[in-house]
Amino acid sequence: MKKTVQTIRQAKGKARITALTAYDAPTALLASRAGIDILLVGDSLGTTLLGFETTVQVTLDHILHHTAAVSRAKPESLLVADLPFSHSHLSDSETLQSCARLMQEGGAQAVKIEADASLAPKIRHIINAGVPILGHIGLLPQRVHNLGGYRKFGKTQHEAVQLLEDARALQDAGCFAILGEMIAPDATAHITSNLDVPFLGIGCGPHCDGQILVTTDLLGYPSQFNPSFVKTYANIEKTMTKAFNAYAEEVRNGTFPPPTKP
Ligand code: KIV
Repeated sequence: MKKTVQTIRQAKGKARITALTAYDAPTALLASRAGIDILLVGDSLGTTLLGFETTVQVTLDHILHHTAAVSRAKPESLLVADLPFSHSHLSDSETLQSCARLMQEGGAQAVKIEADASLAPKIRHIINAGVPILGHIGLLPQRVHNLGGYRKFGKTQHEAVQLLEDARALQDAGCFAILGEMIAPDATAHITSNLDVPFLGIGCGPHCDGQILVTTDLLGYPSQFNPSFVKTYANIEKTMTKAFNAYAEEVRNGTFPPPTKP
């Protein structure tokens, strides 16, 4: 059954929500068949697949290209596209225009925006125009150059209070769910129990309404970052290396392709 923003909203307190990133059609198909609720075409595609050092280099065209590929797999999962660097800080109508392109040209059914409470009025405007929004709080990788690196959030009382305020402001603006990245477990538990909408976590520990992982991390792709919270469920690096070596060896020794029959 097709997952919608209503399905996700209604899962709060009833079922744990599963979410993964997807950047291509075959991955989307397999994740959808596995019953994953949400597929995110995250800007993590820049660091995981496109060879960029940060997500700041990812453009709207990159996200559009990959969202359209995921969309062509017709996943039953809710398809969410990431709003890339700086687009949430354009004028209200330009930000809406970027979101509209992700839905009209990419086929996204919702858009994720890295945000804090200060963006709530703009997010309300976009939602009122018909764009469902997944708010993203905590570590906001698009601000890496301000932060000077990646770190955990919500370890101090002050930050934990601020994060709950951000989450509530985004919920009140109409976000159907909130995603938290790298938030301390105690602060996470407090946020989850004080929101009416689902709170999904990555690197936030178990006290969330659902979890999201970057698919290439879960599959064991070679990576420039190895976050400590990731669990690898496969070793794709080993599998691909073995297959490539076997192919190269068979071409070199003449066993592939096999001899043709006269
Ligand atoms: O771009 C991404 O993959 C993300 C993760 C935090 C899920 O935003």
